[in-house]
Amino acid sequence: MNETSDATPVAVGGVPQHVAIIMDGNGRWATSRGLQRNEGHRAGTRTAKAVVTRCRELGVAHLTLYTFSRENWSRPRDEVALIFDLLVDYLNGELKNLLDQDIRLKVFGEMDDLPFVARQALLRVIQKTAGCTTMTLNLALNYSGREEILRAARALSAKGIQGQALSEEAFAAELYTAGQPDPDLIIRTSGELRLSNYLLFQAAYSEFYFTETLWPDFGPEELERALADYQGRQRRFGKTGAQLEADT
Ligand code: FPP
Repeated sequence: MNETSDATPVAVGGVPQHVAIIMDGNGRWATSRGLQRNEGHRAGTRTAKAVVTRCRELGVAHLTLYTFSRENWSRPRDEVALIFDLLVDYLNGELKNLLDQDIRLKVFGEMDDLPFVARQALLRVIQKTAGCTTMTLNLALNYSGREEILRAARALSAKGIQGQALSEEAFAAELYTAGQPDPDLIIRTSGELRLSNYLLFQAAYSEFYFTETLWPDFGPEELERALADYQGRQRRFGKTGAQLEADT
């Protein structure tokens, strides 16, 4: 674990431009309290709401939340239904706040396979917030990092892009993140130390922050600790410390 006990920011780096979060531990949070798993997702949605607002206040320009993976379809049907109900409530309830905070909504993942009501609610908020520029909130829904890479490869192949023309930039332009920076910081809650098919191409040089805290308990304070921890790191992108100093 790389939790910091005090949140004194060390000003090596600034605020990460792009924070991506794996919101894990809703079920365990609920069962440890003798509650149904669904109550964990309900509490997790409240946390998501608070974290979006705090990221915006702190100056994070891109926030990506792993809300539903392609693998999550295998969960019990009522749990899947509840997650999408919560999503629809979130979208309908937060539209005004998103507009007031100048936050644009995007989806990473295949929307066609989502329940109709969720798709309609997403399309409405995406369209209404399309002109917002202060922060982009990406919800990874029905998302799979491997599928995203295959999808990009298929798109490039369909365009006849091959050989030297098939550059990293050309590839990145076909990913859901096109036009957005790679995540600077990936946070995973609940003590699990895995990437779980999340942003596989984009995570090449991301910094990681793992915490034992279960997602419903991950509040704005711990978000600030994670950002302070990030700010204390030296990102080297394969260079030596001496080279980095010479560059500055
Ligand atoms: C992981 O906890 C959480 C999910 C798979 C669902 C995430 C959904 C939400 C937080 C609610 C919707 C969010 C928004 C933005 C509307 P888990 O169930 O895998 O926990 P466990 O590992 O303890 O079982």
